[in-house]
Amino acid sequence: MKFLAKGFLVAALACCTVPAFSQDYNGPQSLPTDYLTPAFHAGRRQALRDMMPANSVAVIFAYPERIFSKDVNYVYHANPDLYYFSGYKEPDAVLLVFKEVQADGDSSYNELIFVRHRDPAQEQWTGRRLGVAGVKAQLGFKRVYNSEEFAKFPIDFKKFKTVIYDAIPEEVGEGSGAGSLKELVTTFKTKADIKETDKRLLNDLGIIGQYATPKNIDRIMAFIKPRLDGEAYKNDPLIQELVAKPDSATLMDVKAKIAANPSGLALFTKYTTDLRGVKQPEELVLLKKSVEISSFAHAEAMRAVTPKMSERELEGIMLYVHKKYGAEDEGYPPIVGAGGNGCILHYEENSATEVKNQLVLMDVGAEYHGYSADVTRTFPANGKFTEEQKAIYQIVYDAQEEVFKLCKDGIPYGDLETKTREVLSSRLIALGIIKDAKEVGKYYPHGVSHHLGLDVHDKGGYGVPLKAGMVITVEPGIYIPAGSPCDKKWWNIGVRIEDDVLIGKTGGTLLSIDAPRKWQDVEKTAAEKSIFDGGKFPELK
Ligand code: GLY
Ligand code: MN
Ligand code: MN
Repeated sequence: MKFLAKGFLVAALACCTVPAFSQDYNGPQSLPTDYLTPAFHAGRRQALRDMMPANSVAVIFAYPERIFSKDVNYVYHANPDLYYFSGYKEPDAVLLVFKEVQADGDSSYNELIFVRHRDPAQEQWTGRRLGVAGVKAQLGFKRVYNSEEFAKFPIDFKKFKTVIYDAIPEEVGEGSGAGSLKELVTTFKTKADIKETDKRLLNDLGIIGQYATPKNIDRIMAFIKPRLDGEAYKNDPLIQELVAKPDSATLMDVKAKIAANPSGLALFTKYTTDLRGVKQPEELVLLKKSVEISSFAHAEAMRAVTPKMSERELEGIMLYVHKKYGAEDEGYPPIVGAGGNGCILHYEENSATEVKNQLVLMDVGAEYHGYSADVTRTFPANGKFTEEQKAIYQIVYDAQEEVFKLCKDGIPYGDLETKTREVLSSRLIALGIIKDAKEVGKYYPHGVSHHLGLDVHDKGGYGVPLKAGMVITVEPGIYIPAGSPCDKKWWNIGVRIEDDVLIGKTGGTLLSIDAPRKWQDVEKTAAEKSIFDGGKFPELK
């Protein structure tokens, strides 16, 4: 399409009988009415401003567009932070939030947004753009400019005590002209005097500031080691302090210094982690919808599955249900793995042509208005668990039940992992699959939980106590690939059960309750009729 677009436009320009495009594609159409409101986004900007130190500005860029194939891009996905603070979902944009009101002649502002300009000719090919007027009218910003104007806009970034910014996108896409992301980023780096090498270093310092403990000096040193030869690392006094004396006391000293003088990048991470970790009521409406849609889809896939189905067909059923209920996208590439494929944690090929009489692990979650669900169900394609499958399934289920009891305000996040390992290891020992609790990682190689929201692995912080309003996953799993050092009867059993939980003051709310979870309910659902039953497609010629 893109190639044709270029060719067609050349033809159109060459022929004076073809009028230039002047249509406004913003004509009446039926659209969802439950988007986040301008007031929500304005409230989030104010919450950010409230956290920022005196004399500071926060700068948030759009994500780059990415190539799918030659002249075709992937469907664009907005930077969740930019979306959270503005509602803007297009590329080539930058948002600035100022702590203090900035004087500007007779007028003033405390936020600016630079957005893609309207271009009716291009919009006929690649879709509608909001443009300056649309951003004012639909997103409620007062000071909106075309991105081309960022370079000459009189902002002296050096006058601010703190410039707060996220990791600046390195891949800034193909376009390098005025108003492109590349130009926005280059302008910002020049004006704010940000060095190319700073980003990785700042990121590492942020990680030390967040995760260093008196016990993990060796891990921290191993983590930064590959970059110690870099110029920025050689010139950084904190890194050099660690290199000169890599012990726990130095690490704690460096951590305290980082905390006392955090970088703009560390501040951005901290503020967005704190803000996005606890969901606002408006966000919960969308997140619950996303999880509800995904849960229906899982139940429908259980009803529809037959041993003759392919992994991809099951994926298609899930995606159809998502679209049916209005989800724009999936929060991550769908994972549909039968038998041994279910033991590959992020299996994305979904290429087995028949799922056969095996367990099928489906980790598939919709994205609704930006909010991602993350739900996994594991079920027998023929509707009946074998004794071995049931035994493993029950262990995972019981671990989940134990972890659910911890899902409340004030519980340290780490307790969820400790409990999971305790349950899984003791039960695997009882079945003779492992001999020692230390071996549990062989069959349970991932973590039990992460935050969920605009990112599937959302911001929210991990070394912290759970807080009411957080939404997290609870996802224990056991994976026993063929060749594992245990009785062959367990081979090719991969079970993950993943649910999404809203943390409350006194307990959690299971958001994915509509996806059957007990093995008895899974079997019962599998025996039910599906709306996909009986549809007969002709054979391809
Ligand atoms: N679907 C990715 C995960 O469970 O983390
Ligand atoms: Mn997950
Ligand atoms: Mn998942």
